[in-house]
Amino acid sequence: MSGEAVRTVTRCRVCGSAEEWQPVISFGEVPLANSFQPTAEPHAEETYPLEVVSCRACRLLSLTVVVDPELLYRTYPYVTSDSETMTRHMQEVVRLCDERSSLAEGDLVVELGSNTGQQLMAFRDAGARVLGVDPALNLAQIAESRGVPTVPEFFDATTAEDIAARHGKASVILGRHVFAHVDDLAELLAGARRLLADDGLFTIEVPYAVDLLDGLAFDTIYHEHLSYFLVSTLDTLFARHGLRTVDVARLSVHGGSILVSAGRAESRWPTHERVRELIAHERDAGYLADEAYERFAARIRETCAGLTALVRGLVSEGRRVACYGASAKGTTLLNVCGLGPAELEFCTDTTPQKQGLFTPGSHLPVLAPDDVRRQPDYYLLLAWNYAEEIMRRESAFLEAGGGFIVPVPEPKVYTEPVIAR
Ligand code: TYD
Ligand code: ZN
Repeated sequence: MSGEAVRTVTRCRVCGSAEEWQPVISFGEVPLANSFQPTAEPHAEETYPLEVVSCRACRLLSLTVVVDPELLYRTYPYVTSDSETMTRHMQEVVRLCDERSSLAEGDLVVELGSNTGQQLMAFRDAGARVLGVDPALNLAQIAESRGVPTVPEFFDATTAEDIAARHGKASVILGRHVFAHVDDLAELLAGARRLLADDGLFTIEVPYAVDLLDGLAFDTIYHEHLSYFLVSTLDTLFARHGLRTVDVARLSVHGGSILVSAGRAESRWPTHERVRELIAHERDAGYLADEAYERFAARIRETCAGLTALVRGLVSEGRRVACYGASAKGTTLLNVCGLGPAELEFCTDTTPQKQGLFTPGSHLPVLAPDDVRRQPDYYLLLAWNYAEEIMRRESAFLEAGGGFIVPVPEPKVYTEPVIAR
């Protein structure tokens, strides 16, 4: 571990408390989820502590360290999937934003962490004026080439001022799966307030902590994801920064997410009943109490032990097992459960940027699906968030006797294309 590259978290980034941390689980030292390696040979790889704590004051689930964003995001191999599941989801995000903000032709939609511009293309098709913000230079270039203007910077108050001066105020500021990646939420929200039109909505999509705990998607815990939010935690955060929660929807992507909108505290938007209901549910169902987090940790240990036993059992019976989808989640799953080349032959992935490299820590070769010469007996599905779509597409593999192992909430083998979650 390199000292300068990490900051240890002391104060809660939502409520500012310093002494209220409940230790939840420690996964030990883990490499960065997207740090694909050039060689398979054993070599010194940077690892960082992966440890989760919960703030008893506001119930933010947080990692204990923050890895330098320059290290994580300046060149970023993660490319938003153009899978059917994601394309449908992005249409749904446009629909919900439109419904909540009543977007008019030419209104400005700014997306933070806009990646290759795919979500913004859907907004553009719906008549909006769009602008992306993404610090990954490689991705910003791709977005530009698709006609999505993109500012290649981290979003902060200065960037926000600059954008407002050049492009005007935004009716929607969208951050899909980016809010959980940001350490200094105060700076981001100060920027959002500067760029937001008077009745604009700041709208974020984040994994929902309730779904994380219930669905046990512990592999979505990696260094990029600093925070895991309840609606009540976000509500506390917004209120501290002059914003008010307006609406929320639960979505099925990435193991269960929420799309939450907040307006200026003084704006005309009322707070929807759905927000109050979810906040009440979080309290009544125990998500504000230590016990929920103790149980979460115990269930993670069980799932991990179960998965390792299942895979090793298959291998000892002479079955061949490989991985499907070199997701970031897969890095946590394989490293935390201690699975690697002793059990798994390779990992397929459709992302050209990952092919020819080796998975972080576990060093499985990443192959293009077409380069697999002999199919294994089982694929461990590291991209389980696309289980339904993938199993439908791979029906020939299943019909030929193959199986998919879905690792969470508990390991399960599928030999027919059924809905996994
Ligand atoms: P993804 O679920 O997008 O997220 P994360 O990296 O945040 O965990 O990762 C899915 C990976 O799986 C991505 O590298 C693309 C790959 N993939 C396939 O190889 N085949 C497929 O059919 C799909 C849908 C994804
Ligand atoms: Zn807190």
